[in-house]
Amino acid sequence: MPLRRDFLRLLGLTAALPALPAAAASGIAPGSQPVVVSTWNFGETANAAAWQVLESRGSALDAVEAGARVPEADPDNHSVGLGGYPDRDGHVTLDACVMDHLGNLGSVACLEEIVHAVSVARRVMEKTPHVLLVGEGALQFALAEGFERQDLLTPEAAAAWRQWQETAEYRPQPNIERSNRYRMPGELPGGETNHDTIGILALDGAGHLAGACTTSGMAFKMRGRVGDSPISGAGLFVDGEVGAATATGVGEECLRICGSHTVVELMRHGRSPEQACREAVERIARRHPASRDDLQMAFVALRSDGALGGYSLQPGFNFAIRTASGSRLVEAPSLR
Ligand code: GLY
Repeated sequence: MPLRRDFLRLLGLTAALPALPAAAASGIAPGSQPVVVSTWNFGETANAAAWQVLESRGSALDAVEAGARVPEADPDNHSVGLGGYPDRDGHVTLDACVMDHLGNLGSVACLEEIVHAVSVARRVMEKTPHVLLVGEGALQFALAEGFERQDLLTPEAAAAWRQWQETAEYRPQPNIERSNRYRMPGELPGGETNHDTIGILALDGAGHLAGACTTSGMAFKMRGRVGDSPISGAGLFVDGEVGAATATGVGEECLRICGSHTVVELMRHGRSPEQACREAVERIARRHPASRDDLQMAFVALRSDGALGGYSLQPGFNFAIRTASGSRLVEAPSLR
């Protein structure tokens, strides 16, 4: 399809790639074309920061961390890091994950009062024998590592929470932050600054893949709720020999099918990145037909040879690509 041909042109691949068996897709030689791809419209922000790292011959892991840190520090983004909408009790809790091409993994869940959850996740990966720290333990670890404690609940997010409390009957609702009541001034529901999770994948010049995923999760969720983003195989999965995938949308649905792992395994068995994402979305839609209308779920995948694609349950999901040829925002094909 034309969209896919555009991707390939962008990546410097002039002919449509056949679906590769795992063996053929593995072992990218040094000097492969670096690429960054991320969910939603983070092309000029997260991707730009990640690209700076790749351009100066940095690693994919450094690149995805640098990229994910940008929306984490942005108080105007209400679904990641500082300024994220709180849970229904008013606590901003963050989930994040990093993974590299060797299967090294670090995650934090329900982390409070630390802006850069993705960097704490990386420290979990590099400095502990564990892969996931949660809640108070994750906070204590972060503080011991020198991260600064900060109130993440901005006045704007607190105001939205108080407004939600007026009528919500204390009931969490998927994607509530997308409704008219909580959008940014002048923004359309589901518009560019009213998205959720950032998942970011990179392939560096050494042919190594890495990924990161970070979010404040579902707005006004139950206290203690953890979504897909910090869970390996759900919000993020990287296999250096095959490819990487990341997810955005209602985490519960992604967790139920181990979404990102599913996408990577489908690529292992020869599906293109877009087809693999499509099959994962279809699996969610089949399991829960009502979801076709009332929730959003999307995947982005980057194969180890640099081919990439995405697919969404609802229209309106886009993803941003950065290569040496420049930056591009692509509207993903969708089931509906
Ligand atoms: N996808 C983010 C979440 O559900 O928390």
